[in-house]
Amino acid sequence: MSADVRAPVRYGTSFNQAKDAVLFWRDFLKLASCQPLHAVVGSWPDEPADLREVAARYAMANHQLFKELIEAALEALGIPCRRGLLRELAAGYSQIMLNCYPACPQPDLTLGLPPHSDYCLLTLLLQDHVEGLQIMHHGRWLTVDPVPGSFVVNVGDHLEIYSNGRYKSKLHRVRVNSTRPRISVASFHSVPVERVIGPATELIDERNPRRYMDTDYATFLAFLASTEGKHKSFLQSRKL
Ligand code: OGA
Ligand code: NI
Repeated sequence: MSADVRAPVRYGTSFNQAKDAVLFWRDFLKLASCQPLHAVVGSWPDEPADLREVAARYAMANHQLFKELIEAALEALGIPCRRGLLRELAAGYSQIMLNCYPACPQPDLTLGLPPHSDYCLLTLLLQDHVEGLQIMHHGRWLTVDPVPGSFVVNVGDHLEIYSNGRYKSKLHRVRVNSTRPRISVASFHSVPVERVIGPATELIDERNPRRYMDTDYATFLAFLASTEGKHKSFLQSRKL
């Protein structure tokens, strides 16, 4: 188990266990992922025996779906998907977060995850049949019905920054319950870690000034390691 948010592969608990004043009711396994996959698979746990093979197959297919969705989102923004951008997305950085929320004897005293937005372009979330995910919509928490065999697609902070605010990253949280454990698999997808992200030049002109500073992964990790990093606080810190 590691409390270090910088560790690329780690098993942990709560949201940011080194900083959380009150712990959240979650255990997780985080697997860093990138393309080509063989560069990271060796850092994943080798038990259970088929973990690497199964997770690698899942990561490949999931990343393919991400590319299709992000290309559609860029097209909707009127940004031509240039070959350079496609190459960056194809070589992008991902994280697979396997979340387990055990049944909780006093669910009203805690949460599975605090309100937060995801640090990526898009999250593809696979949830089991137990509800728990809530999104903030017009000032109210709405529960997302689990639909078996489907993904919930969540806009992350990177897409809000890249689209200069035309897509908004979505605030969400997880509630727990007293009877049924819940499992979810969140895959966070973005550009390569070393890539600086800022508003797309195509979306900026005199009438639409730049609304966010450039940022990178190292800045985010430093932020996360130094504060609790909840709500949309990191994104807020990048606003101009
Ligand atoms: C996350 C997350 C939601 C869920 O891992 O960032 O928001 O339903 N997960 O587990
Ligand atoms: Ni999330």
